[in-house]
Amino acid sequence: MLVLNGPNLNMLGKRQPEIYGRETLADVEKACRAEADRLGIKVEFFQSNHEGALVDRIQAGREANAAIVINAGAYTHTSVALLDALNAAELPVVEVHLSNIYKRESFRHHSYISPAAVGVIAGLGSHGYLLALQALSRLLAR
Ligand code: DQA
Repeated sequence: MLVLNGPNLNMLGKRQPEIYGRETLADVEKACRAEADRLGIKVEFFQSNHEGALVDRIQAGREANAAIVINAGAYTHTSVALLDALNAAELPVVEVHLSNIYKRESFRHHSYISPAAVGVIAGLGSHGYLLALQALSRLLAR
């Protein structure tokens, strides 16, 4: 499975900890790897602050990956390109947000990428990534 993180998520731990918590992206990755081991699945991680780099990674992962977990950061609310890339990948996608985007500014209430997702998890912090891995592993086992 491919776990993608978008812009500013490399700043986790330092960035608005009152919203995003004190865990770093490396901590999130470690927890995901432990969960993946438990589930018996392989995970690849990729973070970029650049929209095109995320599109490239989704395209490159089309054959090699069975599913995608994505926290697109602010591109969630702006990127038709990411929506198109996710649709073209034809893989099950779970969209994750650390914060509850519906509790925040109204511009965060709309996600361009949700139509490409089988499910969306928001507001549960880094635990959302683990729930996404569980959900996708269960979906693929059906
Ligand atoms: C986020 C929510 C987005 O609105 C924001 O731009 C982010 C992080 C989250 O994980 O809560 O960068 O995706």
